[in-house]
Amino acid sequence: MQGAPIGVFDSGVGGLSVLREIRHALPEEDLLYVADSGHAPYGNRPGKFITDRAEAIVEFFLNEGVKAVVVACNTVTTVAILTLRSRFTIPIVAIEPAVKPAAQLTRSGVIGVLATSQTLASESFSRLAEKYGMGVQILEQPCPGLVELVEKAELNGPRTEALIVRYVSPLLEQGADTIVLGCTHFPFLISTIRAVAGPNVAVLDPAVAVARELHRRLKASELLASKANGSTEQFWTSGSLIRVQPVIAKLWGENVPIRSLPSAFCAL
Ligand code: DGL
Repeated sequence: MQGAPIGVFDSGVGGLSVLREIRHALPEEDLLYVADSGHAPYGNRPGKFITDRAEAIVEFFLNEGVKAVVVACNTVTTVAILTLRSRFTIPIVAIEPAVKPAAQLTRSGVIGVLATSQTLASESFSRLAEKYGMGVQILEQPCPGLVELVEKAELNGPRTEALIVRYVSPLLEQGADTIVLGCTHFPFLISTIRAVAGPNVAVLDPAVAVARELHRRLKASELLASKANGSTEQFWTSGSLIRVQPVIAKLWGENVPIRSLPSAFCAL
């Protein structure tokens, strides 16, 4: 199994922000990525829909012979991680909003979390906030529209900036000095978020911690690849190839081939 690939997925292209940290931390590994762009955004979908999509994508990865799966979507983690872990036996590493490091870092005692409505409304986010946010005020900021802009690779420009100002300003006004990127699409907007937040506000992206945790899990299970060279990345999407191809090329920084996710794994 050491030579088997790792499957990474998201509702769309946001998980590429996690994939690039995994590539950096684990250069020997073959990586498979599924962008479920045909069904993005997940943020306002019912929990059952999101769980069904996550299960279908993990099944696709198992057909491709993966040794581990990374859930590169906070929304899937908060809604479906227990179902995924009880149904599938391979290691599943999942991203979640970085509330714990933010609570340790803040000096003002106020942190802001930018995430989807579904993530913020979930029980698992409440548990996370309760467990790690003691003594800290957590401002929850849903961000409708931002995922859609990243799905179009509209990372700059007046529309993107206006939305970021709308979501970040209330956090600053209430004294937040630490902002958590609780959606994997948002690291692609980090330069504008930082520009709006200013130099005294820390902006946290948990992707590096996910890559580190994946490394730890693979090592503990003796599943780390030992290839000397030649690792690969392969990409699939449930969305339109013509639309998704240039977006992945821009966010990944390379014009990589994208395939359609087989229809058996697109059905709802
Ligand atoms: N990238 C996602 C997340 O981390 C999903 C956003 C969405 O599809 O609404 O939450």
